[in-house]
Amino acid sequence: MSKVILQNFNINEFQDDLLRWYGANKRALPWRENKDPYKVWVSEIMLQQTKVDTVIPYFNQFIAKYPTTYALAEADEEDVLKSWEGLGYYSRARNLQAAVREVVEKYDGKVPDVKENLGELKGVGPYTKGAILSIAFDQPEPAVDGNVMRVFSRVLLINDDIALARTKKHFEELVREVISKEDPSSFNQGIMDLGATICTPKSPACLICPVQKHCRAFAVGAENELPVKKKAKKQKTIAYAALIIKNQEGKYVIEKRPDTGLLANLYQFPMVPLEEVTFETIPLWFYEEYGLRIQVKEKLQGKVKHVFSHIIWQVDVYHAEVEEVKIADDRLRFVEQEGLDALPFPVSHQKVMDYIE
Ligand code: ADE
Repeated sequence: MSKVILQNFNINEFQDDLLRWYGANKRALPWRENKDPYKVWVSEIMLQQTKVDTVIPYFNQFIAKYPTTYALAEADEEDVLKSWEGLGYYSRARNLQAAVREVVEKYDGKVPDVKENLGELKGVGPYTKGAILSIAFDQPEPAVDGNVMRVFSRVLLINDDIALARTKKHFEELVREVISKEDPSSFNQGIMDLGATICTPKSPACLICPVQKHCRAFAVGAENELPVKKKAKKQKTIAYAALIIKNQEGKYVIEKRPDTGLLANLYQFPMVPLEEVTFETIPLWFYEEYGLRIQVKEKLQGKVKHVFSHIIWQVDVYHAEVEEVKIADDRLRFVEQEGLDALPFPVSHQKVMDYIE
């Protein structure tokens, strides 16, 4: 199939035009200072779902703290999550550390440059694998994400739904054909920069595009109709009450979330789904769930709203006090206000924390 699409497409000229442009215009990004595969890996994990401008300060502090695979392998998971605090999709951090620990154990701390070995590591899917192999090891492997599909859907005038797995596979086949075999690292990064700065989702800058003469969508004026992406289902809203609970010593009750699922292993203020309680029955629910007798003092003004990719949280915040601890529930911890800062909280619960006066 890719053979037909690439008929009459001048691969060599396309590569030359892209590489010339990238050589003159590449963005100065901290993970481009050298080709350290560990740093490329960290950057690519952070850049999944997160914009470059947001990633830069996180990347710099992460690498300062964990400059090598050994440093990250030896760190406490909780500290790694703290470094990731605010970036979201925290399983990325947990998987990265698990995979780096495997690299230390199995490969003497060196990131493998063999496709099969790299692809077996936790959290390293086809995109990350291709990005590391091409950017750090100069192997002509595709690294196809949403941005790359946008660029190639326009250049090659492809109107398949990019939300489908088979469409992504098709783009990987095409990029495998089109990628520069001499400089795959610059080629893939050039496509990424083109997608970020010229071939943008809205109002692409076709008039100054270095590969305009190759672009089939531009030729027929279809650049704004591409890529085709079926809308995701609308997120469901879930309402919660979060409680800022003080005990007699003035410590706050926090809970460690389960080690799987959403926000795994992060901390939060105890929360109850509002489907399951009324204001009057919150204490009963807490007693049954945690063995804590609490007195609810007041509902605070305003709500905390947090939008995840698949759900939305609407959180009412309450002040409460512990009257009695019946059971030592090992999910719960009692922490002084100053101690809260050292622990990883999701952004939604940092906003809850702001209600502490
Ligand atoms: N987006 C994903 N990976 C990137 C990279 N290496 N450079 C710039 N933007 C990116």
